Amino acid sequence: MRMYDIIEHKRDGRALSDEEIEFFVRGYVAGETPDYQASALLMAIFLRGMDAHETTTLTLAMEHSGDLVDLSSIPGIKVDKHSTGGVGDKTSLAVVPIVASLGVPIAKMSGRGLGHTGGTLDKLESIPGLSTAIDRDRFFQIVRTHGAAIIGQTGNLVPADKLIYALRDVTATVDSIPLIASSIMSKKLAAGSDRILLDVKTGSGAFMKDLDSSIALAEAMVAIGEGAGRETVALITNMDRPLGHAIGNALEVAEVVDTLRGNGPADLTHECCALAAEMLILGGRASTLDEGRSLAEQAIANGSAFAKLCEMVAAQGGDTAYLEDTSRFGAAPVAHEVTAPRDGYLAAIDTTAVGTASVELGAGRETKDDAIDYLAGITLLKNRGDAVAAGEPIAILHTADEAHLAAARPTFEGALTIASEPPAAEPLLFARVTAAGVERFA
Ligand code: URA
Repeated sequence: MRMYDIIEHKRDGRALSDEEIEFFVRGYVAGETPDYQASALLMAIFLRGMDAHETTTLTLAMEHSGDLVDLSSIPGIKVDKHSTGGVGDKTSLAVVPIVASLGVPIAKMSGRGLGHTGGTLDKLESIPGLSTAIDRDRFFQIVRTHGAAIIGQTGNLVPADKLIYALRDVTATVDSIPLIASSIMSKKLAAGSDRILLDVKTGSGAFMKDLDSSIALAEAMVAIGEGAGRETVALITNMDRPLGHAIGNALEVAEVVDTLRGNGPADLTHECCALAAEMLILGGRASTLDEGRSLAEQAIANGSAFAKLCEMVAAQGGDTAYLEDTSRFGAAPVAHEVTAPRDGYLAAIDTTAVGTASVELGAGRETKDDAIDYLAGITLLKNRGDAVAAGEPIAILHTADEAHLAAARPTFEGALTIASEPPAAEPLLFARVTAAGVERFA
């Protein structure tokens, strides 16, 4: 078999055989296939696509390119959650303790911020003392004892994705449904949970900007999960504006604490309960979405979800005094109020630009090795659809110094559109995708 022929087949629009796909993944990970041939194949896949069978074969070949996590020693149905990435998306930090407090074990490997999107590990690490670099045995022990842990990737998990993702990043082949689906699902399958909930974001702050492509991505990922014998459900959720009021690491942890104490923003609380309800069904703890939602609401109301967050944070070495009293995090030295230039409505928010502004304030990394400023970020006082009066505060930008503020301010201000008329209302949840099909809510 030759890479030349595989590239030619895909270039001409043919479906690749299992052997061809496995040959590519094996050869590229082994260093036998040069980057220029791998790049040519990725571009051919980008342009010609892959059918469901090819996408599943690619995912399984990538999954098996490195170590696999075996969670079978942890009792219960283990349910994983993955978000395709958003701005202000702190749902994992709230949903994991809600679901674990109701008896469904969660052994979660999360990622760091990527581009304009935040990452769960960075948020967690803003809690002093907390470690996400925990070895496999201790990780399992925490999940067995406390029902939940969130750590970074350990071991040599899915090396094929690391290599292929890095190549996609520099060859303009990121935005391809089969390539995104195989990248995400190979990591979810290797991480070993029995069932998977996917939160596929749609809108100006998401990888997929329109609903139809978000649904197509969700369908591809659900088909892969089900094909691999793992029940998989996807919710398509709104990322046309940031979720909640807080963007930035410690700010988001404080908002999660408010949410688990029953005082969180309505949109965030609603979305967390919807995601938790799905996970409770997948975990066999609820039989209907209504039951799941009401269990999640009770776990917030009776304090058990907040207690579970504290338990998990303590087990990972974090100082829970910061959760009991979030004012201990302190505040960034510079707090700049952004005000409305005129009367009207906040008609649109370029959410990717808001995420970029947050990175420029110091809440994310411009380069791989940058240190994060845990106190930097944005507090939104208004969100999409709200009425604003000239001079009224819209947001507070938090950062270390005037230089960071000068970089981020135009990016943030340029992300806002003020119009005379309110925008059409948009739902928080657009659709639910399962093996049975697509259920659209809007
Ligand atoms: N997240 C991933 O892990 N992979 C992609 O391709 C896109 C988003």
